[in-house]
Amino acid sequence: MPVWTLKSITKQYGYPAILVLCLFPFIRLVWLGFTNALTANPIEFITRSTGTWAIVFLCCTLAVSPLRKLSNFNHLLSYRRPLGLTCFAYALLHFLTWLVLDHQLDFSEIIPDFYKRTYITIGLVAFILLIPLAVTSTNTMQKKLGRNWKKLHQLIYLIAILAPLHYWIHKAAKNNLFTVKIYVGIIGVLLAYRLFYWGKRNLELRNTQKTII
Ligand code: HEM
Repeated sequence: MPVWTLKSITKQYGYPAILVLCLFPFIRLVWLGFTNALTANPIEFITRSTGTWAIVFLCCTLAVSPLRKLSNFNHLLSYRRPLGLTCFAYALLHFLTWLVLDHQLDFSEIIPDFYKRTYITIGLVAFILLIPLAVTSTNTMQKKLGRNWKKLHQLIYLIAILAPLHYWIHKAAKNNLFTVKIYVGIIGVLLAYRLFYWGKRNLELRNTQKTII
């Protein structure tokens, strides 16, 4: 008889659960669209919803590694790629909503928006940095890039600073920072954990070298 543990359940149902989680915000948006329930300002609603889900999936992607280390459950690592790609997909939808629905591809409006509104510039940089990560997320690219793959994917830390900064500046102008502070807190803890782990490993490495000498 199989023994049901949290790890075995995660192994068996993890992928379908992640798939539902990743698709749910998109299906919800489509449903709200079909039922005419995208509020009185649908473009603003879609921009906010896709932006929020992009940052949620960014947090989920960043959470995989610490959770794996804390639980010693290596299988969790296999969820990092779908979560990261979903973050990219919502950021792409967010960007396209702004570009196509909000500005109707009118570059006389789009270009001044880039350099006049700091939060747009920062959002765009974060989005551009996500592109190489999405493109090189396949196994083939990982093999092809070798050690450089890891270096390239460290861009996620820069994105993890720029994305909440984009959100913060946008909300600061509206004096409404409550939710942003929650995301900043979550991302801050996830980055601090890595910094702590990195420092600890370096210290251990230095101590081992000293013992060898
Ligand atoms: C990694 C990339 C990005 C992330 C994670 C992100 C996330 C967010 C979040 C969380 C919000 C606030 C949602 C709310 O008000 O509740 C937002 C707002 C916004 N973002 Fe982004 N964003 C990104 C990139 C971009 C890009 C590339 C653009 C356009 C060039 C952009 C344009 C906007 C606009 C116009 C708003 C304001 C929406 C409104 O209140 O009407 N964002 N973004």
